[in-house]
Amino acid sequence: SGAARPRLTFLGTGYLGATYAICYAELGYEVLGFDVDEAKIAGLSAGVVPFHEPGLDELLRRNIAAGRLRFSTDYKEAADFGDVHFICVGTPQRADGMGADLTYVETSVVGLAQHLSRKALIVGKSTVPVGTAEWIEQLVGKHVAPELGVEVAWSPEFLQEGFAVEDVLRPNRIVVGVKSDWSNGLLYAAHKGVFDLAATEDREVPLVITDFATAELVKVAANAFLATKISFINAMAEVCEVAGGDVTQLARAIGYDPRIGNRFLQAGVGFGGGCLPKDIRAFQARAQELGAGEALRFLHEVDLINLRRRTRVLTLAADLLGRRSGPAGPDLSGAKIAVLGATFKPNSDDIRDAPSLAVAGLLQKAGADVRVYDPEGMDNAKKASPDLTYEPSLNDAVTGADLVCVLTEWADFRNADPVALGELVAGKKVIDGRNCLDATLWSQAGWVYRGMGRP
Ligand code: UGA
Repeated sequence: SGAARPRLTFLGTGYLGATYAICYAELGYEVLGFDVDEAKIAGLSAGVVPFHEPGLDELLRRNIAAGRLRFSTDYKEAADFGDVHFICVGTPQRADGMGADLTYVETSVVGLAQHLSRKALIVGKSTVPVGTAEWIEQLVGKHVAPELGVEVAWSPEFLQEGFAVEDVLRPNRIVVGVKSDWSNGLLYAAHKGVFDLAATEDREVPLVITDFATAELVKVAANAFLATKISFINAMAEVCEVAGGDVTQLARAIGYDPRIGNRFLQAGVGFGGGCLPKDIRAFQARAQELGAGEALRFLHEVDLINLRRRTRVLTLAADLLGRRSGPAGPDLSGAKIAVLGATFKPNSDDIRDAPSLAVAGLLQKAGADVRVYDPEGMDNAKKASPDLTYEPSLNDAVTGADLVCVLTEWADFRNADPVALGELVAGKKVIDGRNCLDATLWSQAGWVYRGMGRP
């Protein structure tokens, strides 16, 4: 049924589900977004995206107005509406700090399955431990009459915050894990809008059709690779720091080799966010369960390198301020430090596992009077780290500071005028935690400049 233009539901309207629901409506599909959170659904229905993502608000309003997109908190409505149901709920880190918590996957699949009254396809999209698709299939088997013939498939997503609309409308590949021709055909129809758009733009979107396990693994393998690439360059930064090299030039030089490539080689305070840190931990935990723990032992090292970059900023700060380290680490008491950036990356209001906030916490714990400012992440940061002190603007944050730390590479910070800022601070010292400032310009303006992995 519905194979020509299947109707799509997206269960879980968090970052992933909301973006997909809105973008697939934009591609011309009839879409229903489901969530158990009444407030979220009320907001989306009223045209309000509950997070910051460039371009999404406009698409939301346009597609609601066009009648292709609506939202609901009713499982039955979702079950009746959709031919293809995408599971987009969160899979947070478990309390033990390693594996993924599949509670939301289970509730949403069961909630949906109990109301299905015709053949449909349930497609997993959330990032999960390999084996989850098989488990969902069993779960569905327990809650749906076998004669309905409900099937399961897997299709991971690769969207990056800040570029999510582009990444969904113009993905660099689509991966599907399927078990039957029927589900393969239906899932093709559910993605046809993406292939059609590509055709009108003279592009091709590669389609990888594979089994459940591979489809699930593609996602975590991709994120593990990206995390490794970042930690690799940060490891080189550590070596540069003791050898007197410059990691930014090193990255540029190795990046010219197309086998290496120049992207994701930005050394700094490391990776954060809701995906890379949690995914590499969950991947290790799952490999361990499966008896392949050794294969992913290097990811533990990737994690450690990443976390060491945060303490590196603390050491640099102590150094620049002429403070000595005691047994409990450096003592920064009395120092006023401006922390610029709270989000885990620019063009996002996401503060999950943000290196910037972690560093701000370390500096404060060492006794410093820390003032945080971020262009978009203030509300979320205040909720997540209420013990830090926040300032309403860049200028307010740096006024009277003995040291300025740029920890998220927002354009506002990159383009800030070091001469003007120099008049506000008490001491012209800057740590460029993202190697995003023009070192020459800042030095010329009289600042003591320290980058990451640079002399
Ligand atoms: C990441 C992946 O890039 C997406 O492909 C994936 O779909 C997504 O996770 C997910 O699993 O949902 P995202 O978390 O939005 O996307 O952020 P990235 O742009 O990958 O950045 C992650 C972190 O790495 C940021 O803190 C960023 O500052 C840091 N980073 C990135 C570096 O420190 N150096 C770099 O060279 C690149």
